[in-house]
Amino acid sequence: HKIIKAGLLGFGTVGAGVYKLAKRQKEEMESKTGARFEITRILVRDRNKERKGVDPALLTDQWEEIIMDDEIELIIEVMGGIEPARTRILEALHAGKNVVTANKDLIAEHGRELLDAAEEHGVDFLFEAAVAGGIPIIRPMKQCLAANEITEVVGIMNGTTNYILTKMFEDGMDFEEALAKATEYGYAEADPTADVEGLDAGRKAAILSSIAFHSRVTFQDVYTEGITKISSRDISYAKEFGSVIKLLSVAHNTEGGIEVAVYPMLIDQNHPLASVRDSFNAVFVHGDAVDDVMFYGRGAGEFPTASAVMGDVIDVIRDIQYHCTGRISCTCYRTTKIKDFRD
Ligand code: NDP
Ligand code: HSE
Repeated sequence: HKIIKAGLLGFGTVGAGVYKLAKRQKEEMESKTGARFEITRILVRDRNKERKGVDPALLTDQWEEIIMDDEIELIIEVMGGIEPARTRILEALHAGKNVVTANKDLIAEHGRELLDAAEEHGVDFLFEAAVAGGIPIIRPMKQCLAANEITEVVGIMNGTTNYILTKMFEDGMDFEEALAKATEYGYAEADPTADVEGLDAGRKAAILSSIAFHSRVTFQDVYTEGITKISSRDISYAKEFGSVIKLLSVAHNTEGGIEVAVYPMLIDQNHPLASVRDSFNAVFVHGDAVDDVMFYGRGAGEFPTASAVMGDVIDVIRDIQYHCTGRISCTCYRTTKIKDFRD
């Protein structure tokens, strides 16, 4: 069997999950792809940090050791943030290496540039984990629903805030305590402001809208409002009205243009989205041919996210095996008016 070698950038919540899942699935992956998969280098910021279950010899803080290694055909970027992730990924693509990432901040702002680089070099650039953690949503939208005119994408796209709201609503937990738990479970971003201010959900909404509406929607086009102003009093009022509060991402493609926003909303307790609890996410999509489709599952956390990342990795391995890398990375957009949600 051919050996496919990968460099893993980051060994935090997601990186550790990817490493463990790759180890657990080693033989299965070999029989599914006909190739052996090996993570041969892991880039971290601090090599001296104590880390369980990983061979310390794999760890490096030198990017050059990875990018200069011609045997590495795949880079898995799970460091987060814009820089140096953007530069590292561009360097990898220009060097003809395939890239898998979970980095929604980067895709929402620089997705076009990265997709263009992947297309130019005929390599895969995949990011299933960037939206809604373990839920398959990017690929279904890009491929399975490609024959539809999609007009609506609505849902809960942030696990941290959904966990916080669930705990405030069901257990009377206060905001700070619930956020601390979400951080402990690995749901929250390195800077949780992105979660609680609706920025993370906004980035995901921009990525999904771009794919769903076949247009270029960036994070700057999205109106965002978070959950930091929601008090226990608001929770009591919601209960009195037989409702719950959820942080919703709402995207519409109308004749007047595309409109994308994230904001907390009161929804009836019997609405399907009301039953989406803890770190779970759910996304409703309306297409002219398929009608309504709903996606549901764990939107954050070590293994759910690793599941999406490793699904992409397996696709890359198959593409390398069948000499068809670059096949699913290319995307052409049409020009559509983007409306300001507040108008
Ligand atoms: P963590 O903060 O837990 O881990 C980040 C890792 O990257 C750490 O190992 C860190 O090294 C390393 N790192 C960060 N910056 C650098 C750098 N400049 N050079 C080298 N190494 C660096 O993040 P997560 O694992 O939670 O998230 C990773 C990515 O996945 C983010 O883009 C996030 O948005 C995305 N994501 C996260 C999900 C989740 O549930 N957590 C779900 C879906 C996507 P060190 O350990 O030395 O500090
Ligand atoms: N911080 C993100 C969330 C991780 O809570 O949804 C998954 O993208």
